[in-house]
Amino acid sequence: MADSADSLTLVPAGRNMPRHVAIVMDGNGRWAKRRGLPRVIGHQAGVKALERTIDYARDLGIRYLSVYAFSTENWKRAHSEVQGLMGLFRYYLKGKIGQMHRRGARVRFAGQMSAFPDDILSIVESAEEMTRENTAIDVIFCVNYGGRQEILDAIAGLIRSGHEGPVTEDVLRRHLYAPDIPDPDLLIRTGGELRISNFWLWESAYSEYYFSDVYWPDFGREELARALDSYAGRERRYGSA
Ligand code: FPP
Repeated sequence: MADSADSLTLVPAGRNMPRHVAIVMDGNGRWAKRRGLPRVIGHQAGVKALERTIDYARDLGIRYLSVYAFSTENWKRAHSEVQGLMGLFRYYLKGKIGQMHRRGARVRFAGQMSAFPDDILSIVESAEEMTRENTAIDVIFCVNYGGRQEILDAIAGLIRSGHEGPVTEDVLRRHLYAPDIPDPDLLIRTGGELRISNFWLWESAYSEYYFSDVYWPDFGREELARALDSYAGRERRYGSA
């Protein structure tokens, strides 16, 4: 992390920092199109932006970083793009998890994992296992994730559990994909679109949003610092006056 000191200087100490930052990494396709390149090259550049962002987030003391890497709707994309993304998952999970481990990151996944090929599932399992004890930052990859599907899966899990008594928020929460992770404090979406696209539907009830026009591959520490700056100035009332 050669430039960790630089990233730290952009955010003054003692500021109101989010514990959990969630990111919709949008704009890879348009970034590539603008350069006359195939979409998958945009996703490759997106992986580099992700690596940088994990380092900045860790250095800044953000304890949880979740990223929307593949939605339940993304299977509808062209076969070649879906295959390209699967190739990137393989490359990233095989090649980069050791590096994340050395940097103290715990790697986790949220989504309907059973849809992935066996080889990806076994790399996912070993990545979770290898990094389980790390505490510098939790990085949650949301893959084959859909917020509505997560809620449906939680209801199904609740019914299967044979729960008796009132169904409270806490009871349902226990059946979500990552019940021990605090709700996102700050939800960033790059790429200029002003929508949530089925991300963390239950968990983002009181998240603060930050929408950025920057395409994801161009996301860097300046834009992260801008988002944190915006967050620091917000008053969170959770519905109270
Ligand atoms: C949205 O951009 C991005 C995605 C659907 C995929 C995001 C994936 C990555 C950044 C790679 C993550 C990789 C790993 C290894 C976890 P878009 O394609 O919808 O862009 P567009 O809106 O400009 O078309």
